[in-house]
Amino acid sequence: MIFGATGDLAVRKLFPSLYRLFQKGKLDKFAVIGVARRPLTTEEFQNSVKDSVITALGKKEKIDEFISHFYYQSHDVADSSSYQNLKNLAQQIDDKYELEGNRIFYLAMAPEFFGPIALHLKSDGLTDVTGYKRLVIEKPFGHDLESAKVLNNQIRKAFSESEVYRIDHYLGKEMVRNIEVIRFANAIFEPLWNNRYISNIQITSSETLGVEERGRYYETSGALRDMVQNHMMQMVALLAMEPPIKLTTDEIRSEKVRVFRSLRMIKGDKINKYFVRGQYGAGLVEDQQVPEYRAEPMVDNESNTETFVAGKIMIDNFRWAGVPFYIRTGKRMTTKSTKIVVQFKDIPMNLYYQPEKLLNPNLLVIHIQPEEGITLHLNAKKAGGHLNAQEVKLSFANTGIHAMNTPEGYEKLLYDCMRGDATNFTHWDEVAYSWAFVDNISEVWEKTKAEDYPNYESGTMGPKAADELLEKDGFFWWPVN
Ligand code: BG6
Repeated sequence: MIFGATGDLAVRKLFPSLYRLFQKGKLDKFAVIGVARRPLTTEEFQNSVKDSVITALGKKEKIDEFISHFYYQSHDVADSSSYQNLKNLAQQIDDKYELEGNRIFYLAMAPEFFGPIALHLKSDGLTDVTGYKRLVIEKPFGHDLESAKVLNNQIRKAFSESEVYRIDHYLGKEMVRNIEVIRFANAIFEPLWNNRYISNIQITSSETLGVEERGRYYETSGALRDMVQNHMMQMVALLAMEPPIKLTTDEIRSEKVRVFRSLRMIKGDKINKYFVRGQYGAGLVEDQQVPEYRAEPMVDNESNTETFVAGKIMIDNFRWAGVPFYIRTGKRMTTKSTKIVVQFKDIPMNLYYQPEKLLNPNLLVIHIQPEEGITLHLNAKKAGGHLNAQEVKLSFANTGIHAMNTPEGYEKLLYDCMRGDATNFTHWDEVAYSWAFVDNISEVWEKTKAEDYPNYESGTMGPKAADELLEKDGFFWWPVN
């Protein structure tokens, strides 16, 4: 059951992803009930699913067979009789498709409905199933630690922790999943993956889009809650975690939680030494003149909301003591790109020093999007040259498709959920620790008005202070494009 079946997420991501799974033969016995407030007939709904698939993928092979598995139920989320109708429909469909009582409830809705829906699902008997029941829940999971706890308590009245699948769509990205493999399947990386050989790690997730029509949500969120608490912190955890004993969900999650437990908690006056906030002004992005954030629809014209965050995260454990993890994310930046740069320490003595040119440090770049792959920056003598060392790059490119936030991520996550694999979903403990970390920052930023907003021009890589954050440690941001 997809709650919010007429919404943007369902139309742009979920239906195309389900179609791909169907095409690959991974959906055998299945049916989808689309649930939303709008009155629609099942036929109208099926047509909208068809349109969404054709628009997203340009494909329609077996599409009529695919959409014949879709049903629609107009629904009032606060009304028990709506849930009764839904329950009856679900029962009929269960019998028709022999679904053995297995149910997935996907909440692709505004977050204020998450708790009430979960509670109704239980009180109105939809969770009384003979098979499995799973709840897939979109972000944001709360607004801060307190509200996340309230939400979690509501959900947990109807579902156990192991039945809750909290989506972080970055964990569906091919190269985010690859971080563990690169680290733990290569003898040449893992021995060096610590503070003896790594000087710093930089994670950049830049966007060219502005806030678009999401001003109302974004004003209460900002880049910190929208991107840092979830996606950026998840990438930090995957880069920093210890090798799990086994590749099981519990073992991997508990290693990630240990990273969160080792985060240096920055508070009060120190926040502005470790974190930089920014808000975009007008400017040129990909040759288009765009307005400032404060002129966007539904945005306060004196807004104090950050559209950019850069920060230095310290992990105070044996492996990482002294190694900064720099993160940077924002809207209306130069380019759409997510990259991780691991910068290794300089060698003890440089035999190839030339006054005009220093030896380049070794870098391992993990390209998350739009390209997918890794590049290793080494120094070597070029053929025919003198003994001087020059930078050479070894690259591996995934033949991934070159599109942003493609349905692939959702496709993998939906499939994981159907198989009951929760590894790439966030456990409550991860959510709680990352909110606790981020709350310290938002508390300070909300109390103090940023006098310099807007402080970066659209089409740039953020405010000057983000560069200074690294400069004062003797580093600089490696270019991402
Ligand atoms: C979402 C945020 O979680 O991630 C959006 O709410 C952001 O504001 C998006 O644009 C970025 O995702 P991707 O996959 O395009 O990097």
